Amino acid sequence: MIIEPVIKGVVARSAHPYGCQQAVRKQIDYVKQANPIVGGAKRILVLGASSGFGLASRIAHTFGGAEADTIGVSFERGPSEKGVGSAGWYNNIFFKQEAEKAGRIATNIVGDAFSPQVRQQVIEVINNDLGGKVDLVVYSLATGVRPNPETGEMWRSVIKTTGNPVVGPTLNLETDSLAEMTVETATEQEIADTVKVMGGEDWASWIQCLSEAGVLAQGCRTVAYSYIGPEVTYPIYHHGTLGRAKEHMHNTAETLNGQLAAIGGQAHVAVCKALVTKASVFIPAFTPYILALFKVMKQNGTHEGCIEQMQRLFNARFYTAGGEVTDEQRLIRMDDWELDQEVQRQVSEIMADMTADNFTDLGDYAGYKQDFMELNGFGFTGVDYQQDISLESLQALQP
Ligand code: NAI
Ligand code: NA
Repeated sequence: MIIEPVIKGVVARSAHPYGCQQAVRKQIDYVKQANPIVGGAKRILVLGASSGFGLASRIAHTFGGAEADTIGVSFERGPSEKGVGSAGWYNNIFFKQEAEKAGRIATNIVGDAFSPQVRQQVIEVINNDLGGKVDLVVYSLATGVRPNPETGEMWRSVIKTTGNPVVGPTLNLETDSLAEMTVETATEQEIADTVKVMGGEDWASWIQCLSEAGVLAQGCRTVAYSYIGPEVTYPIYHHGTLGRAKEHMHNTAETLNGQLAAIGGQAHVAVCKALVTKASVFIPAFTPYILALFKVMKQNGTHEGCIEQMQRLFNARFYTAGGEVTDEQRLIRMDDWELDQEVQRQVSEIMADMTADNFTDLGDYAGYKQDFMELNGFGFTGVDYQQDISLESLQALQP
């Protein structure tokens, strides 16, 4: 078969395996020539390892100076009669191939990170493959649902505001168009459910479970990723349901930091830059901001993708001789270049003029779309998109 891109709204319904391989290699090449991570963790567990910031954290630690062995947990779909499978499935496979070529251990666990079974499996793999301890736990899950462990029913996150409804243009990547859409006010229940799914509770439960199993090394650290953004986006993000979940995560970091002190460890939240990932394309009314931001940051030469953000986090902020670099809330601010005053002034100017007719000119729509295609293995030079790929050959690739 010839694998073509299929987009429905903001969801990619196909992925190109060899394009995903290219995406992984491109990130590896970047970190190999970047400022290296010095004094980094050597045994790492990444929850949410197959794409976005989690995959970039794993690549940075393996190839960007730390030479780490890693376990990656993710929820992805393999090839079947129904389709080729998800991009993250192939990212896992090709990351592992490259890591093993470099002499590193890279174990992939594909399953539901919220389940007790996957926790058990991770502990077994830490004991079998990593000598029984991890030095760093990266928490980078992004999802819309989490099963309630008591009842088995699903908590569902919603992307809504907590103030007055917000009207804003939202992107459709299938039709390359912007359409007005209203972000409604969340109910108390919707806020609580979103906090359950995207807040810090599951992060804390993972750390507790690993601690009880005795697999956290002396000095073990943990990090989760957050977003705050500039004031123009507060109504849809920071003061919305997702912002509430992040606030919960920030508080969880304080609790975990206190607990990990007993083994000389620490917990941090890194606040990252707005980027195109499988998760972020769902945020309504956010696109005009990202389109303007990419335009301005590229012009200024300060634009970063996931891999640039993660390499800089770990080489300049997380492992440093003088201790980690944080703000007064103990947050690691990787959004410093995004929130630069002059950048934000220019972004506001562009946003004020942006309409459904001119957004592809005023904003960096080409760059946004390219990023989205690349997430799914499309749009790479050096990949033969006309090649005939058999289902059997894909089924032979194992995570
Ligand atoms: P992503 O969608 O690229 O990655 C999510 C990962 O979670 C994937 O590996 C996926 O397989 C895994 N996952 C989802 N549900 C799972 C489950 N039930 N069991 C096991 N694995 C599961 O997302 P992204 O954007 O990298 O997000 C990671 C974190 O970074 C999130 O907390 C997000 O809020 C945060 N962040 C994202 C920003 C952005 O602009 N994309 C900006 C700042 C923070
Ligand atoms: Na991730």
